[in-house]
Amino acid sequence: MSPLDDRRSTTAPPFALLAEVTHRCPLQCPYCSNPLELERSSREMATADWLRVLGEAAALGVLQVHFSGGEPTARRDLAELIRHASQLGLYSNLITSGVLTAERQLADYVEAGLRHVQVSFQDADAGGGDRIAGLQGAHQKKLRFATMVRQAGLPLTLNLVVHRQNLDNLPHMIAMAESLDAGRIEIAHVQYYAWALANRDALLPSRAALDEATRVVEAARARLKGIMVIDYVVPDYHAVRPKSCMNGWGRQFINVMPSGTALPCHAAQILPGFEFPSVLRASLADIWYRSDAFNRFRGTDWMPEPCHSCERRELDWGGCRCQAFQLTGDATRTDPVCALAPDHGLVGAVRSAADGEVPAFVYRRFGADLAVR
Ligand code: SF4
Ligand code: FES
Repeated sequence: MSPLDDRRSTTAPPFALLAEVTHRCPLQCPYCSNPLELERSSREMATADWLRVLGEAAALGVLQVHFSGGEPTARRDLAELIRHASQLGLYSNLITSGVLTAERQLADYVEAGLRHVQVSFQDADAGGGDRIAGLQGAHQKKLRFATMVRQAGLPLTLNLVVHRQNLDNLPHMIAMAESLDAGRIEIAHVQYYAWALANRDALLPSRAALDEATRVVEAARARLKGIMVIDYVVPDYHAVRPKSCMNGWGRQFINVMPSGTALPCHAAQILPGFEFPSVLRASLADIWYRSDAFNRFRGTDWMPEPCHSCERRELDWGGCRCQAFQLTGDATRTDPVCALAPDHGLVGAVRSAADGEVPAFVYRRFGADLAVR
């Protein structure tokens, strides 16, 4: 048996492909999960490469493809990619800001086989929404687009990223989701990677604000039971156990960047000592089963104590490798968010910033001046 066959017998295939088809985006959200060094359009893979990647994903066992970015609708070939995914039997989800898509274009996506749409909202009204998105008129366009999605008969999820500058408006944001007939909302406190890390002090809420938001979410869940699903992600720095990041490294997700670099998570490029493979040079199956990048933190063998003998090790998979690296400089450490981690004290120091002054945003843009942080 070759090493590849051996890994195939012990590793499950991926469940979902996150296709980051472009980093171009008219919005400039200060918590964007794209890397600080954005990939320019000249580096984007051609249509033929994406079509091949979709075919390899389906052959590998992927069931869902999430078309994301940047703003995925900025690519003129998006309908073609959706159509191909659909013909391959993949469930296509579009993750979009909703500010670029006209009715005709949405109709093309629907006709091509699009199954679900997630639209991001930055706040409950145009004042806050446009300011956080860094684009005048964005909020109004999003409202229009979300309405079009429901009129087209597609299920709609609203992605509501919350933080210290919009948390007070959470009840209004939930009411907005109801009025737009969303079937699901994802209320996610900002996770501190990339642009969000550069803006951490401007975004991290206080403990009191977080507790109030959690009360609002619980009340809404009770009230909207059977009508709307509400997913809720708390901010890492206020937790006592880490999130199961990506549901475990190399367990369910493959992220492919605009240029074709394949990553086990959206932030992995910050980790030193890795060579992340490209779908232009290796098949998705080789990358998934055989690459060092996808195997390094797969499973539990790599874990240090206390994770290695912890009863939660196959629940949270030791938390997040990128967060461990960001806070300790060593990606193999237990995620410091865990109260059992030797480095948990580092999180308390970060949390104290949530009660301080609110600095100005560093907006996401090509060549942004990060020196202002
Ligand atoms: Fe999770 Fe490790 Fe903490 Fe246990 S010690 S809860 S496995 S991060
Ligand atoms: Fe990279 Fe969590 S974001 S492992």
